[in-house]
Amino acid sequence: MSSDLAAYGKAHISTGIGRQTDFVFEEGHGSYVTTADGTRLLDLSSGIGVVNVGHCHPTVTKAAQEQCAKITHAQVNIAFSGPQLRLLQDLEGIMPSKELDTFFLANSGSEAIEGAVRIARQSTKRQNIIVPDVSEDEMVDYCLKRLRMLLDQETAPRDTAAIFLEPVLGEGGYVPAPPAFIRGIRDICDEHGILFVADEIQSGFGRTGKMFAMEYSGVVPDLMTIAKGIANGFPLSAVVGKKKFMDAMPPASLGGTYTGNAVACAAAQAVLRVFREEKVLDNVAARSKQLFDGLAAIRQKPHGKLIEDVRGKGLMIAIQFTSPTKEQVRGCVVKGCAERNMILLSTSIFDVVRIIPPLTISEKEMDDAIRILDESIADAAKQLAA
Ligand SMILES: Cc1ncc(COP(=O)(O)O)c(C=O)c1O
Repeated sequence: MSSDLAAYGKAHISTGIGRQTDFVFEEGHGSYVTTADGTRLLDLSSGIGVVNVGHCHPTVTKAAQEQCAKITHAQVNIAFSGPQLRLLQDLEGIMPSKELDTFFLANSGSEAIEGAVRIARQSTKRQNIIVPDVSEDEMVDYCLKRLRMLLDQETAPRDTAAIFLEPVLGEGGYVPAPPAFIRGIRDICDEHGILFVADEIQSGFGRTGKMFAMEYSGVVPDLMTIAKGIANGFPLSAVVGKKKFMDAMPPASLGGTYTGNAVACAAAQAVLRVFREEKVLDNVAARSKQLFDGLAAIRQKPHGKLIEDVRGKGLMIAIQFTSPTKEQVRGCVVKGCAERNMILLSTSIFDVVRIIPPLTISEKEMDDAIRILDESIADAAKQLAA
């Protein structure tokens, strides 16, 4: 039955969707998903950093169910939406600065980025956008110098609307930006009237141990994009920013039929309630330490030599491998985890796997995850040596 469905998917879903496995997910509860044939998998992916309070958290599910019976589509160009306004009141309270008080809600991370580009261009009347490479700790001065050279030689400040930065680089390999680099970018933006846009789509909503990763640097961005964990799987995203920039937009220049969907907003309000009631950030701190300690112990073993680096913050953690042969190690490790009923994600082109479990993962589940990683890396070492 599940293999029939998977076969149908292979025949009828565009190859444009890359897919790591042919599992057919049917249920998800807490840190586990269950497939159509009844296999239970420990999920270290959270659906790419989305179900931060676990699959189908009862509080979130109940809020969405109740909202479904009231109104599902409260179109934002026609009227205000109660669920949206109540969510914004709560979101305002968790922003890293009181200056970030004006919102535009959308459905996906990409739409939030697109909205931020439009807001930056409209409020500066400039076109160009810079997305700098993230700096490593010892390279901060050099990287800031390169950025200044870019503004001298390739995109003049008078043409540059914004600098976009992920405070912890996601698809680029899970590299946290050093606070000094973030502060340096803030200075450059202030000197030239360029907007600083923090992309917190993957790093936000508790993923790095604080509600937003920008809090580690103390820097306040002009705009911030948020998505993924905001509604724990319901499609919702936002641009939040300083009022003077957000209100540079004339009416009808932002929007979309489904933006700020009522059910997604009710779910997002429930997510924030779970964060408060279950002290989710305390769990992130404890499980992060457990994971870093577990990975440090694996590195002491003979197969631990395959690990070149372990980095990240909170529960946004990457293992980079040494790639001793032409073959990347990550494929073997991801496959080994799948064979042991655990979902692990790789990261774009790099020989890196990323560990982004639900932030509510228990101590026992994390112990299981570390054991499965250990066994899968040991298997990979044997296969690569053969
Ligand atoms: C940092 C970051 N920005 C933007 C996006 C795009 O978000 P979406 O896939 O919801 O369009 C992603 C998705 O992974 C992301 O990680």
